[in-house]
Amino acid sequence: MAERKLLVLFGSQTGTAQDTAERIGREAMRRHLQCRVEALDSCDVANLIHEPLVVFVCATTGQGDPPDNMKMFWRFLFRKNLPPGSLCQLDYAVLGLGDSSYPKFNFIAKKLHKRVLQLGGNPLLPVALGDDQHDLGADAVVDPWLLALWDKILALYPLPPGLEIISPDIRPPPKYTLHYLPEDSPPPKGDLLPPAAPGAAPSELHPFAARMVSNRRVTAQSHFQDVRLMEFDITGSGITFSAGAVVMIQPQNCPEDVQQFCQLLRLDPDRLFVLKPTEPGTSLPPLLPQPCTIRHLVTHYLDISCVPRRSFFELMSYFSTNELEREKLQEFSSAQGQEELYSYCNRPRRTTLEALWDFPHTTCAIPADYLLDLIPRIRARAFSIASSMLAHPDQIQILMAVVQYKTQLSKPRRGLCSTWLASLNPEQGDVRVPLWVKKGGLKFPADPATPVIMIGPGTGVAPFRAAIQERVAQGCTGNCLFFGCRQKSKDFYFQAEWEELAAKGFLTLFTAFSRDQEEKVYVQHRIQENRRLVWELLSTGNAHVYLAGNAKQMPAAVAEALQSVLRQEGGLSPSEAEEHLAALERSQRFQSETWS
Ligand code: 2AM
Repeated sequence: MAERKLLVLFGSQTGTAQDTAERIGREAMRRHLQCRVEALDSCDVANLIHEPLVVFVCATTGQGDPPDNMKMFWRFLFRKNLPPGSLCQLDYAVLGLGDSSYPKFNFIAKKLHKRVLQLGGNPLLPVALGDDQHDLGADAVVDPWLLALWDKILALYPLPPGLEIISPDIRPPPKYTLHYLPEDSPPPKGDLLPPAAPGAAPSELHPFAARMVSNRRVTAQSHFQDVRLMEFDITGSGITFSAGAVVMIQPQNCPEDVQQFCQLLRLDPDRLFVLKPTEPGTSLPPLLPQPCTIRHLVTHYLDISCVPRRSFFELMSYFSTNELEREKLQEFSSAQGQEELYSYCNRPRRTTLEALWDFPHTTCAIPADYLLDLIPRIRARAFSIASSMLAHPDQIQILMAVVQYKTQLSKPRRGLCSTWLASLNPEQGDVRVPLWVKKGGLKFPADPATPVIMIGPGTGVAPFRAAIQERVAQGCTGNCLFFGCRQKSKDFYFQAEWEELAAKGFLTLFTAFSRDQEEKVYVQHRIQENRRLVWELLSTGNAHVYLAGNAKQMPAAVAEALQSVLRQEGGLSPSEAEEHLAALERSQRFQSETWS
């Protein structure tokens, strides 16, 4: 009988695709399939030619790019020299996770599906297009798709005689077992961060512990938002970057949350443990020292402030000894309970720690072995770098809004990373922040003589400060910036710098202060008003246009303003203007980086 072997490969940016991949792995094990679940870039892609059955679970990032942990795979897969029939032995299925409010909805999953087909793979099902915009989240598509997938797989690989599908009531084994060291064991010595890989730039597995140099509020105290300019010292790190790059910062939980978590789960924060994988061959979690204290694990590793996923409730239900709690947990993990789960978790942005509070009997019965199955790893956060190495050779600077908002829950919601960073005070000692740098979405012209038009309201101006510093250091003057904020006196970041550069002839600056007068004035209005200049830069100067920022409607409004420039000054028809802007985008002369 054919080997019943399934490989689940995921490409995940925020962890959702990984969560879904792991769920497929658990469901496969209940069907007695030998199953491995791996990030696409952790597997040796050349071995795909020996795999009989693969399920790919892929997210698509906002710009239609593959997630970071499948970038190498992506390059490999699209090599021109791969023979057309090279994957003809492979049965496969692709599950996409995306957001239909972005133009390139599930682009990566669709493209992957096509490419594997082209290489000879046999699709078991049409590609699944999970959509975050759906009222019930991506699971509305994923659940029925998975049922159809198991039907197909069990038709190809029937259950061995005498075996049945293991009931979902039976608790799955943990990924690792946690072994406590004797209570009087000496604490581990040395740094908590591993040394950087020799000769290589810092990376996710080898972050650089950068010293925080400053942490300064740049909005008026009376302004609604706390925005910080932060400087980090990267001397000796080996980091190099150019304008448009992004710094990844690995945040940690605050001590109060860590303490509360330990209390709830009756864990001793000072207790030392080592982890052992349950399945031989499974690697240990990256960056977790061995031995490790519970405090370190909770502070640096467990994302107790993220909104819990369905799999959290599914696993919790196995630990419950309380009837009422178990019923609720089972409901939240069922397909029918997704609407209620959404109202309980996602809508109010309830944290994992808060959810644990709501199930006290279950929470205190969670075996420590399951902590890493139950709670995902804290993700690093990306920030556009707001400085240039040509102006500040040993620094990375970021412009960061401290995230805080209200939901129906009484406690305000706070962003984990920005709240942690904002709480750090470099004047009170040596403050270190683990970070590394990666390429960003914005690429500025290789020839600094090419003029650039930059549109960056709010903190969207961050990458443009890097670009302007870099270009000014190269002596170039073709820099045009459209900046928007609420009030000149409250959130006009870098006012003095821009005014000085403008006075010296390095910068053409247009500002839109939306709340300094009755009617709203936005960057798109300034583009309209200055359409002659914008047209000249575009047509005779061959300018590149960049857009960054976080207002939801802003990108579409700016695109419309640019099209109106093409219509009014360039004499293009509406459809020609639209096509012209699309062509600029395709040739990377119009690039944007937006977030919500
Ligand atoms: P508002 O808050 O007064 O509406 C940075 O956040 C700036 O972007 C603010 O001045 C904000 O204005 C503005 N902004 C909000 N929505 C926008 C939109 N649709 N287009 C352009 N700018 C916008």
